[in-house]
Parts: sequence; structure tokens; C-alpha cells
Amino acid sequence: MEENARTPLIAGNWKMHKNGKQGAELVRRILELLSPVPGVEAEIVVCPPFTALCQVREVFREGQLPGCKVGLGAQNMHWEQEGAFTGEISPLMLREFGCEYVIVGHSERRILFGESDAVVNRKVKAACENGLRPILCVGEDARQRQEGRTQAVVEKQVTAGLAGLTPAQIDRAVVAYEPVWAIGTGSPATGADAQEVAAWIRRVLQGLAGTGALGTRILYGGSVKPDNIADFAARPDIDGALVGGASLEPESFAAIVQGWG
Ligand code: PGA
Repeated sequence: MEENARTPLIAGNWKMHKNGKQGAELVRRILELLSPVPGVEAEIVVCPPFTALCQVREVFREGQLPGCKVGLGAQNMHWEQEGAFTGEISPLMLREFGCEYVIVGHSERRILFGESDAVVNRKVKAACENGLRPILCVGEDARQRQEGRTQAVVEKQVTAGLAGLTPAQIDRAVVAYEPVWAIGTGSPATGADAQEVAAWIRRVLQGLAGTGALGTRILYGGSVKPDNIADFAARPDIDGALVGGASLEPESFAAIVQGWG
């Protein structure tokens, strides 16, 4: 696959925001805002809380966008298909709700819920084996960056997260570079810094899967807003964005999608 054949992916991570009704309204408005725009050649994915998946899916069933694929993702899952795991949601359950993607290893899950690289890897593998595409989140914290360890941290997270996957599975996976210090802070990485790490991730992916990794999309995430998206869109190794806060307002999310094109 040629490098420029990767379809840009703009994903919204709603975190623990929006009930079903609010979520349905949000995506209805996003579709409205984007529908008059001809040929936005991007794939859009929204990742609502589990409890809003059903109502958001109904809106997608009613309306699609010309030239733009719109899909559904979840923010987390368990790695088993079923079992005695109180409070957990399985990959098959996400499939039933029409999910195509699942965010795995977000730094909030790593830091607040103690998810290790080993757990993240089990989830990534389970996603691939059950027909879901993982969005594997990686990124260094402020201290690791200060100490010059960004590349080492990111390499370890990517290598451990994707361990055991076939090249074809890596090709279908998405890696989101999300420096922890940029998430929810209003201080994004610069496009140049994000590109440097994305290029490094691309090299690590090629080490794992050879040319099989040419289709793997690498997103940037961390305080992405309409006024900074162009700086990321201009970078050769950044194939899209994972958007938190700005994905909760239809105007800003739509502006980010348009800003990519
Ligand atoms: P943010 O979050 O855009 O609010 O910084 C990004 C994320 O956590 O994925």
C-alpha cells in the first residue's frame, strides 16, 4: 500500500460524557454540519460510553455522509468473550452494538485503572480476534519527555501492545500517539514534535510487520482543536486525530474533520 493510501481517521473519545439522548443529538448535529461539505475524504469514528452506543447507532442507521465513512467505537473492553467478570463488557457485546473500533490502553486507563502493557496486549489481541479494530494509545508523560525517554517509552508500549499480532492484524490496527502531558491540558504537542514521534512509531511498526505495517494509521491525540488541526494534518506520518474535549461539541468536532481536508 502506498503511504498516501491511508484514509485519514478522525476519532472522538467522549470519555464519561453524554447519555444516550445527548449522544444521539450530538451525532445528529455532527452529520448535519458535515453533510453539505462535498468530499471530506476521511473516516469518522465516535466512541461514546457503552450506555450511549445503542442510541448513537440508531442515528448512524438513519443518515450517512457522502464520501465519508462514519463508524462506532468503544472506549474499553474485556479480553474474554464471556465469563465471570463482574462489570466488564466483552468484544462480542461491542460487536452486537455495531462497534468496529475499540480504544485500548488510553493513558487514563493505564494510570487511573492500572492497566499494564500485558493487559493492553490481551485486549488488543482480543479485539483483532473478534473482528474489532484496536486503537492502541501510547505516549510518554512529562517527566519521561524531560528525561529524553519519549522514543523508548513509545517503542515499548507499541511493541508490547501489538505483541503476537500478525502483519495483517497490525495493518488494520490504529496507533494513537497521545503524550500524557498534552491530554486535556490545552497544550498540544507541536505538529513537528508529533511528526517526529509518529515517524518513530512508523519505524517500530515496520520492524514488527515489515511492509505489512504501511497501512497502519497513526493518530495524534492531546488537546486537538479546530485551530491546531491543520498543523497535524500537514504531517506525512500523522493519519488523523483522536479528539477528547473538542469531540463533545458538534461545531468543534465538525470543524476538526473539515480542517483535516
Ligand atoms: P483531549 O483528549 O483532546 O481532551 O486532550 C484526548 C484523549 O484523551 O484522547
